[in-house]
Amino acid sequence: MTGTSLDGIDAVLADFSSGRPQLRGHVRHALTAELRDALLQLNHAGENELHRAAVAGQHLAHAYAAAVGDLLLEASVEASEVRAIGAHGQTVRHRPDSGYTIQVNAPATLAELAGVDVVADFRSRDVAAGGQGAPLAPAFHAAVFRGATARAVVNIGGISNLTGLPALGVDSPVVGFDCGPGNVLIDDWALQHLGEPVDRDGRWAAGGRVHPPLLSALLDDPYFALAPPKSSGRDRFNRRWLAGRLAPFAVDPRDVQATLTQLTATAIAEAISRYFAEAAEIVLCGGGAFNATLGRMLAQACAPRQVVTSDVLGVAPDQVEALAFAWLAREFVERRPASLPAVTGARGPRLLGALYPR
Ligand SMILES: Nc1ncnc2c1ncn2[C@@H]1O[C@H](COP(=O)(O)OP(=O)(O)O)[C@@H](O)[C@H]1O
Ligand SMILES: [Mg+2]
Repeated sequence: MTGTSLDGIDAVLADFSSGRPQLRGHVRHALTAELRDALLQLNHAGENELHRAAVAGQHLAHAYAAAVGDLLLEASVEASEVRAIGAHGQTVRHRPDSGYTIQVNAPATLAELAGVDVVADFRSRDVAAGGQGAPLAPAFHAAVFRGATARAVVNIGGISNLTGLPALGVDSPVVGFDCGPGNVLIDDWALQHLGEPVDRDGRWAAGGRVHPPLLSALLDDPYFALAPPKSSGRDRFNRRWLAGRLAPFAVDPRDVQATLTQLTATAIAEAISRYFAEAAEIVLCGGGAFNATLGRMLAQACAPRQVVTSDVLGVAPDQVEALAFAWLAREFVERRPASLPAVTGARGPRLLGALYPR
């Protein structure tokens, strides 16, 4: 898995033989600065982008293959024992309104290098069926994280997404959509002002104060009020988006960081209260779960509900998304449609993925 944050590759080895997925290994590989930059550049129009996308896809597939190699080595598992690799690719455009979503990838190369069947292109079939093609993780959350009480699973990657899981036995649909920016603006602001790709543990934001007029200006974006199904990405929430809204104000950079962190928390809390108010508990996953300031703001915004991390469900926050794509690959291999039309807005459930045999 490589998500919107472009923080690196998370590869997990999952064993589904017992029904419930067992995690057998996890490696995290950084992306080289060149590859990260090339992928970042592909998020907006530029010269010769077809060539650049194809080359970046090749480099990404090589990086995926290296991560898979390390993962198998660490777990002492042979490639021949692995049924499939689920390789999401790197989203560089997400435009379901125009009928497409683009994940840069080179699954044929990965199959060639790894010697394992590769399942890729998980999103386009749902878009073809009129859906958003995102978020896809809610189906996985529904398969493994439902409990005796209603639970909201909040994945805070570059973008944040909510899954509302009704209590087991309650026959109401799973809710799921992208709430808005997760870490994407927070990371970029830290990069611009600290020269660091991450506001580690939210320490910088912790020393700042939320600027209420700026927060209102940010929340003014129509995306937040839009009813689901909805999904988003760097197409909308990016440096330009922030600069435009920030222009009328003179705010200390540290207070901007606190405000961006609050934006993520508020957008999530409002999404829950509007669309899954029955949640008794909120479970955080994704890298944003490690941002202590964000966690504190979320706890405050969601009180009196408990906010916990996915560790309580037996999966570390930084393993959930990769495990979700291992699960999606497995659903494809078993020829089971894994989409949730109630979440993505598609006309019906579809088999998600395309196979590149080893
Ligand atoms: N210790 C930490 N403190 C603050 N933020 C963190 C920390 N660890 C991870 N993150 C955040 O999580 C992001 C990565 O989360 P991830 O779930 O991998 O997102 P994506 O799916 O978009 O790649 C990082 O870019 C960073 O913003
Ligand atoms: Mg990531």
